[in-house]
Amino acid sequence: MGTDAIRWVATNDRMQIDVSALRQQIEADRAAGERPILVVGNAGTVSTGAVDPLSELAAICREFDLWFHVDGAYGAMAAILPEVSKDFAGLGEADSIAMDPHKWLYAPLEAGCALVRNREKLRDAFSYHPPYYHFETEAINYYDLGPQNSRGFRALKVWLALQQAGRDGYVQTISEDIRLAGELFRRIAQTPQLEGLTQSLSITTFRFIPRDLERGGEEIEGYLDQLNNELLTRLQNSGEAYLSNAIVRGRFALRVCIVNFRTTLADVEALPPLVVRIGEKTDAELRPAGLRR
Ligand SMILES: Cc1ncc(COP(=O)(O)O)c(C=O)c1O
Repeated sequence: MGTDAIRWVATNDRMQIDVSALRQQIEADRAAGERPILVVGNAGTVSTGAVDPLSELAAICREFDLWFHVDGAYGAMAAILPEVSKDFAGLGEADSIAMDPHKWLYAPLEAGCALVRNREKLRDAFSYHPPYYHFETEAINYYDLGPQNSRGFRALKVWLALQQAGRDGYVQTISEDIRLAGELFRRIAQTPQLEGLTQSLSITTFRFIPRDLERGGEEIEGYLDQLNNELLTRLQNSGEAYLSNAIVRGRFALRVCIVNFRTTLADVEALPPLVVRIGEKTDAELRPAGLRR
């Protein structure tokens, strides 16, 4: 169908899908003779870890007879935690869920996974029996259920880890990752040169802001984007910490996503001073004369 067939729906200030904008879009498309077929909700977005109101999306999908897919590649595993499970209400109503054990089940790359409510829909879409196949024995043949034919036993490493850590093990490590991301957000708030932007699940986004820079105006904000972009490259190259980036409310942000059970409070404590040190050095070299005091 191509990306032109995708409608990007507005988000609210918590980065969740705006359900009334979604409804309006569906109605407008239908009125224009288009045929919406699918809604993709997020159980933990890539950039900020936002979780959409999944129950409301499920209700809209029922009302308009649409397939309800949830991208839980990163976040779906957090649904096992009692303290966050209410945010995931509605996940169980999805027709399909993407979840990546190589993200928050800590499996080595790669082990992407799709859960589908009705397996027969996969068979309808993918099953193909060329004349040179002869698989008459009663068995699950995965080539009937997806685009891949010959395939390795990726599930083994996931299964072994589940046996090793158990549900309780994952509850413990996933909630610790979330606690650390929250702890980082608090430490950022206590650091005058840093501005916390978002915190959800185990993702925290923030920016470095030089203390003597007076905020306001596109020139300053554009410089802050450039500064944080360069800071990130230097931080990554320093070998001391590896952060990624996000665009948050149109601005370049530093993004921490904790999905490693070896990350500790000591790492979290070390990060704000490290970012400030590299940030100040980068600013000293990068800032145009017109923005200096
Ligand atoms: C929410 C979400 N969906 C999809 C992906 C893509 O995952 P992969 O690169 O493992 O296919 C990511 C990767 O970060 C993600 O966070």
